Amino acid sequence: MSEVLTRDKAWEILNKHVKGENYITHSMAVEAIMKGLAKRLAPDEVEYWGICGLLHDLDEETCPWREDLSTHGPTSKKILIDEGYDDERMANAIMAHNPTCGKNPETTLEYALIAADPMSGFVKAVAQIYPDKKLASVKHKSVAKRYNESRFAAGANRQFMMEIEKTGITWDEFIDIAIESMLEIAEEIGL
Ligand SMILES: [Fe+2]
Repeated sequence: MSEVLTRDKAWEILNKHVKGENYITHSMAVEAIMKGLAKRLAPDEVEYWGICGLLHDLDEETCPWREDLSTHGPTSKKILIDEGYDDERMANAIMAHNPTCGKNPETTLEYALIAADPMSGFVKAVAQIYPDKKLASVKHKSVAKRYNESRFAAGANRQFMMEIEKTGITWDEFIDIAIESMLEIAEEIGL
């Protein structure tokens, strides 16, 4: 086992490999939701779950995912190993958020991450409906309602979002956790 990856170091690695501002803010939003979920599901591992969220798209700008989606995930694992962090549990969680790479979610951490990823984009899309485009305007009710409109934020994979129920957290609870967690960093992520 390599040395423990701190949040500071994870942030440094993320910014070294990912330059697009939208990817950085997306990574931060997923980190926030993962921390919110960990408070319920793994209170001793809030930072660790957050780091898994922060780094889940680490290879976004380096792997050829547009041509071959199966490279998304395993490439992040390789980047982390090259950076000196060979953490199989984290690598598995990152890979399992894209089952196309061959790794299906099987643990609570993995179910949480595959659900948190599309949820962050979905909540952001709901915020953008409002005139002020602010997260503070987002109501539980509107997230629940939009979920059933398949054409709304069509890129947010509903099936992945529902994986949250395999952690024991209900869809309704997940909506609140996602909104509250993202609100904590609203300013930093421009929402
Ligand atoms: Fe993502």
